[in-house]
Amino acid sequence: MKVLVCGGAGYIGSNMTAMLTAQGHEPIVFDNLSKGHMAAVGSAEFIKGDLADYQLLVKTLRKYNIEVVMHFAGLIEVAESAQAPLKYYQNNVSNTQNLLSAMQEMTVEKFVFSSSAAVYGVPRQVPITEDAPKEPINPYGQTKLAVETMCHYQNQTGKLRYASLRYFNAAGAGSNCTLGEDHRPETHLIPRVIKTVMGKLPHITIYGTDYPTPDGTCIRDYIHVDDLCRAHLLALDKLEQSSELIYNMGNGKGYSVREVIDTVKKVSGKDFKVVESGRRLGDPPVLTSDATKAMKELGWKTELPELEKIVDTAWKWHNKHPFGYLD
Ligand code: UFG
Repeated sequence: MKVLVCGGAGYIGSNMTAMLTAQGHEPIVFDNLSKGHMAAVGSAEFIKGDLADYQLLVKTLRKYNIEVVMHFAGLIEVAESAQAPLKYYQNNVSNTQNLLSAMQEMTVEKFVFSSSAAVYGVPRQVPITEDAPKEPINPYGQTKLAVETMCHYQNQTGKLRYASLRYFNAAGAGSNCTLGEDHRPETHLIPRVIKTVMGKLPHITIYGTDYPTPDGTCIRDYIHVDDLCRAHLLALDKLEQSSELIYNMGNGKGYSVREVIDTVKKVSGKDFKVVESGRRLGDPPVLTSDATKAMKELGWKTELPELEKIVDTAWKWHNKHPFGYLD
């Protein structure tokens, strides 16, 4: 299939692009390179463009006879979203509306959207099922929910078939450890701990040790990026029969911040300085998924569920790319 991969130069988008190519699809990467890296795109066709550019979107959909759009081009920093909500609504909501409008004009019906566990806010119950209340506690989560709502109503018109995949914590390096995580600035736990081992950060700070969890630190459900991308392919197949799909994407097992730190120590064989500090704003204590629905309906099975293996792939990528992507 001819797939437009918006944000295909970013962390998850580049892994998806590689997987699409490996599976015989034809990905066309559309990215403004504000966060992504050209070096991560590989041999795929590339268009430098912004999702705010309606004419370019229409032209691209037409030129490449696009059949499906996968949308990874979101801003993802929770703290930044609280400081600059309009930037998040512009990028994550308005630009997605633009993309959906261009798709409508060109009668492209299939859409796979990168949503987030952030739509649930602070869950009343864990593991979280898809029908749990959607009560985001930050603008980032709100923008993801707003797009889901927009997709729902567009689906009701009969013009959109979509899958919304609610990622828990995407992690690790995919495609045999060749495509890793290189956010600038890096805010995510696993890459930050690895950067600490590598001496690029003086210490790792634990944000909050007084949470109502066994060791007092936040618990997250880490999911390997290859497993995540595999689910996108399965969801794409499923869109042939169903026009509206919503799935949690996680392993269902949670690890605390301290457990992640210990795992990086084990994988790297190195010790480093750990500093405890206060809570980071907007962090729910525990986020773990119930992904039974995706497993049952898509036949999805994660192949790398163990945290140690996930961290090992990230560790290998960072060692090969001590300065990240060189662009
Ligand atoms: N953490 C630290 N120290 C750090 C970095 C993170 O203690 O240096 C803690 C955080 O406070 C949190 C946990 O590690 O408790 C995981 O934090 P991440 O930043 O790695 O990821 P989040 O759980 O904050 O992920 C959330 C949403 C995702 C979303 C992402 C956007 O759940 O859906 O933010 O960055 F994509």
